[in-house]
Amino acid sequence: MTRESISKIAYKTLQQSKSIAGFAHKQISSRLMNFILPDSKIENIDIDKNLLLEIQNSMDFLREEDWNDAEKNIYPKKLLFDEPWLRYLTQYPKIWLDMPNTWDRRRKQNFDDLPKSIEKDNYPQYYLRNFHHQTDGYLSDFSASIYDLQVEILFNGSADSMRRRIIKPIKEGLENFSNRKKSSIKILDVATGSGRTLKQLRGAFPKEKITGIDLSDSYLKEASRYISDLDGDLIELIKGNAEELPFENDSFQCISCVYLFHELPRTIRDKVLNEFFRVLEPGGTMVLADSIQISDSPNFTSIMENFYKSFHEPFYCDYIKDNINSKIEKVGFKNVKSKSFFMTKVWSAVK
Ligand SMILES: C[S@@+](CC[C@H](N)C(=O)[O-])C[C@H]1O[C@@H](n2cnc3c(N)ncnc32)[C@H](O)[C@@H]1O
Repeated sequence: MTRESISKIAYKTLQQSKSIAGFAHKQISSRLMNFILPDSKIENIDIDKNLLLEIQNSMDFLREEDWNDAEKNIYPKKLLFDEPWLRYLTQYPKIWLDMPNTWDRRRKQNFDDLPKSIEKDNYPQYYLRNFHHQTDGYLSDFSASIYDLQVEILFNGSADSMRRRIIKPIKEGLENFSNRKKSSIKILDVATGSGRTLKQLRGAFPKEKITGIDLSDSYLKEASRYISDLDGDLIELIKGNAEELPFENDSFQCISCVYLFHELPRTIRDKVLNEFFRVLEPGGTMVLADSIQISDSPNFTSIMENFYKSFHEPFYCDYIKDNINSKIEKVGFKNVKSKSFFMTKVWSAVK
């Protein structure tokens, strides 16, 4: 057996193990909740054999894409094995300890249970809530400290493989600037969160200037800790609102944005797309990644519906039906492409 195929088996085994662990966690925690709080209204979807097969196939496709992109040197293979185990080990008990609070919030439909200390005037109304019933919404260090693992569990261990789907279209887009020095290329990651996307980007773009922007101080602090030891230039982190980006027109050659749009009201999605267009240089590329939508993943409709019914995701129901492609074109972008990978859809477009 060649060395290459051994590492592919290792990669697949790692992904499958994470998938089993994520699935087991969700099964145990939801059964426990239904046992302790029978009125908690969690709906279990019926996953029949066919749906299970579809899920399995689309996860296999995602892993194959992930592996092939690394094989083609679109990003280094070490990214595929980059798991912050120690971090997860400290986060996992916190998730269990916090679970009764989450259950209670879900049961009482208490969506605006946020830290008393926050100054609400500093944030848009749609942001002042606890998405997924998470403790403190995006507005505390505690929330930031467990977010990554929560997402990893939600996606059965495939979150980073899905985030990495933005890298190929970014690389292709940056070919428009191939006559420039890499160190002069600027990439902006909007709604950057606690650092996982930035780590994937730095792995693939070691020389380019990378900036991450987010509305949450706590998430930016967590990102700063997480990315502090990465090779390459320091990644710049800025607090700011995607609706009014604090940058001049035509400042960036690429903008990425992962898992933001489903948490925005429809009119704000338009506003944010306009901002992306404004701060991109002509020829620059925008790459979005977010949840799949009903139009191109109809077989997963029950999973999408269960998501907004079981979690607090007030804009998701509208998002999964929104015609993002036509919004992107309306703003002025050209060459709009989209493709789905397991639970994530990726759009790319050029200014
Ligand atoms: C679901 S998380 C995604 C984080 C990250 N991109 C990832 O891949 O995990 C959504 C992020 O969007 C940020 N956010 C929400 N609304 C925002 C806005 N209007 N401007 C900037 N950031 C925003 C939140 O603070 C949070 O960090």
